[in-house]
Formats: sequence, C-alpha cells, structure tokens
Amino acid sequence: KKGEAWSARFSEPLSELVQRYTSSVFVDKRLAFVDIEASLAHATMLAECAIISLDDLNQIKHGMAQIRDEIERGEFNWQLILEDVHLNIEARLTTLIGDAGKRLHTGRSRNDQIATDMRLWLRGEIDHIHTLLIELRRVLIDLAQHHVATILPGFTHLQVAQPVTFGHHLLAYVEMLARDSERLLDCRKRVNHLPLGAAALAGTSYPIDRQRVADLLGFDKLCANSLDAVSDRDFTIEFTAAAALIMTHLSRFSEELVLWMSPRVGFIDLADRFCTGSSIMPQKKNPDIPELARGKTGRVNGNLIALLTLVKGQPLAYNKDNQEDKEPLFDTVDTVTDTLRIFADMVSGIEVKPAAMRAAALQGYATATDLADYLVKRGVPFRDAHEAVAHAVRVCVERDCNLTDLTLDELRAILPENASLIEPEVFSYLTLEGSVASRRHPGGTAPEQVQLALNAAREALK
Ligand code: ARG
Repeated sequence: KKGEAWSARFSEPLSELVQRYTSSVFVDKRLAFVDIEASLAHATMLAECAIISLDDLNQIKHGMAQIRDEIERGEFNWQLILEDVHLNIEARLTTLIGDAGKRLHTGRSRNDQIATDMRLWLRGEIDHIHTLLIELRRVLIDLAQHHVATILPGFTHLQVAQPVTFGHHLLAYVEMLARDSERLLDCRKRVNHLPLGAAALAGTSYPIDRQRVADLLGFDKLCANSLDAVSDRDFTIEFTAAAALIMTHLSRFSEELVLWMSPRVGFIDLADRFCTGSSIMPQKKNPDIPELARGKTGRVNGNLIALLTLVKGQPLAYNKDNQEDKEPLFDTVDTVTDTLRIFADMVSGIEVKPAAMRAAALQGYATATDLADYLVKRGVPFRDAHEAVAHAVRVCVERDCNLTDLTLDELRAILPENASLIEPEVFSYLTLEGSVASRRHPGGTAPEQVQLALNAAREALK
C-alpha cells in the first residue's frame, strides 16, 4: 500500500495486473520535464499568493532541480506502483524535501496537471515540426530551382496528359506543405491555453492567480471553463488531423518516388543510403523509405481515429479514458517528425534523370491538346479541333509514330475543309518546349512562371 496517493481510503492493495493496467508511467514519463516546469510555475504562483511559504517554494525548486538531474542522468527510479509521471515526481520530491513537497499539490489536481503538461509538450513539438516542414520545403525548392525547365510528362489517371516542368511538379508539394504549416500554426493557437486552476473539475477555493501561471508558462489564454479544461482532448485530435494531412501529402509524394524509381519509368534514382537490397535477389535496390512513409501514414490515420473514438463517449468532466491519449499522440509526433527529417535528407539526394523524363514526355501524344489549341486559334471551334486531333492521334497509334512524325500534308488531311489553316509553324506547337512555354499565366507550368513561383515560395519561408 505504501506509495499510493489515496491509500487511506482503501482496504486492499491493487493486484499486480490492475497495477499494470492502470499505470501509465512508462509512457507518460516522457512528459517529466514539462511536468516539472508546470509544477514550478504553479509553486511560484502559490508562494506569490501566500498559499505556500517562500521557504516551501525554495525547497521545491531545489528538489525539482535534483529530480531533473536524476532524470537526465537516467538515475531516476520510475515506479509502476506510483501510476504516472505526476505521482512519481511528487513522491520523489517529498522524499527529498518532506512537507514542502506535500504542499505542491495544493489547489491542483492531476486532471488539470496532465492537461497542462500535454499542451506544453505538444506546443514544443508543434514548433519543432514546423521548422522541419520549412526545412523540407527549402530542400524541395532547391531541387526545383535546378529543374525550372526540365520537362516530364504530366499525368492524369496515370496516363500521359500534357508536358509539365519538373520544377512545377515539385512546387505542387511545396504548396501542400505550406498549407500544412499554416494548419499547424493555427492549431497551436488553441493548444496554447492554460488548464491549470481547473483543479479536478470545479476549480479551487484557494486564492490562486491563473494569469500569473499562464504568463510564466507562455500560454496565450486561460481555458475559460474548468470542466472543459480538464476533460477535452480536442487539441490532440486537431493536431493529429493536421499530422495525418502532412503524412498524406508525403505518402502521395512517396508513391511518385516509388514509381519514378521503377526501372520501367526511371525518372529518378534515390541515394543508396535510403534504399535496401533483397536477401534473395542480388540485383535489387528497393525504395524502402518512401514505401515506409506511405505505410506509416496508416498509423497516423489510425491514431486520429483512436483519439476521436476516445473522446466521443465521455461525459463531463475528466474520465480515466483520457490516459489513453498519450500513445496515439506520442506515436503521431514521432512518426511525423522522423518522416519529415528523413525526407529532407532524401530529397536533397535525389538524382534526376532529365533524359528519361523527356523521352517519356515525347511518347503518349502529350502535345495533342496544343495541336487542338493551335487550330482553335486559327478559328476552328474547340469541339471540332478536338475531334480532328483525335483523328490524327489515331493515325499515329496505327502507325506507331508521334504527332511530329506526320508530314504537313498528313496533318492537313485531318481538316479536309480547312486544310490551308494548318501552316508549317504548326510543328513548333507540337514541341514539348512550345507546350510548356505557352502556359505562362500565374500557376502555370511555363519556366518563367515556375521561376516566379519559386521566388514566392522562397520568400514565404522567411
Ligand atoms: N495519468 C492521468 C492521465 O493521463 C493523469 C490524471 C489522472 N487523474 C485521475 N483522476 N486519475 O490522464
């Protein structure tokens, strides 16, 4: 019974299984440093409001400094029986400094304590993930800068559609990641509210100063309702949803990297250090990192569902269900953090193969739309132009040749009534360069626009 914070109420000890079932310490000890930080802010406020003495505060500071040291050195004795990070630290504090340690929990509950720890911790992780997103955007922008005019086929339905520039293609991901950054920073605003003071659920009768604690811990606002403060975990859900979108974007990119690295496509090669071989097939070099990122997206999506489900049936206010929020949240942070770090490294090592990209763009009639547009500019209604070019493509398919292999007379044959509209300049419209250069509006794939988009994307990093 020794060591349990509520032992006097109970007449029999917890079984070993129940201890293990209810204990979260080996998961939530990860919050130890924010737990100490929040306790010190709470104690400082208690002393300033004359709820504990200055001497108590000084002892608490000393004790906490030693505990922090013990944890850093790996010498802290975490005990399952003490259930969670809060009770472990408080018990050690009391062993070290006696009664002052027992006064720390005045006007506080583990319910507002854990909600505060989670928010403090997540705020720091959001800031870290935000810098990793910026770093990945920077690396993508740097790669795009080398490929403002490198042409590859753009796809719809994974069928060749129209030529695009590789820089433009990469900048599509930069846009996605920029929105991910915005989403994170928006979520951070709602994470950064202070629950402490809500105590167990109804607030406390001590003359506390919540604003002082918020100032000490850098929270922008106080949670305005004590019941809500201790019980909702919507901030973990919102964060995980934002994280799931980051992973979803990286998963789409991963799918493309896998495809591009297939010898059938051969648009890129990934550095050896991001690939593995096969234990049976000596020739293999597999793109494991993007495949794993694609797979790990499933974990984060799962974590999002776990958290939503965790909260959906809970009556106000705190319920022990909430202890189960740690693993999905921690796993989400770890997965997103590792994936972003590894991607920044991997993208900077991508070897681009422009010749393979170009060869692929020359197949599949990627400039058929340009031919139709040429006819439209010469007065042919778009639907008629579309039909005429479809006819030309069919001729090419039958002959197994490209549109550019047709002679001027053969091209003219697709518009028997208006053959003279088609002049020798038509061939310049059929080139890959002509096609991309003509899409020169904002958001288009023309190299000059891609350069402008690059400049803007770089500016946005500042
Ligand atoms: N370990 C708990 C959690 O993660 C802390 C709050 C416990 N409160 C309680 N009344 N049992 O939510």
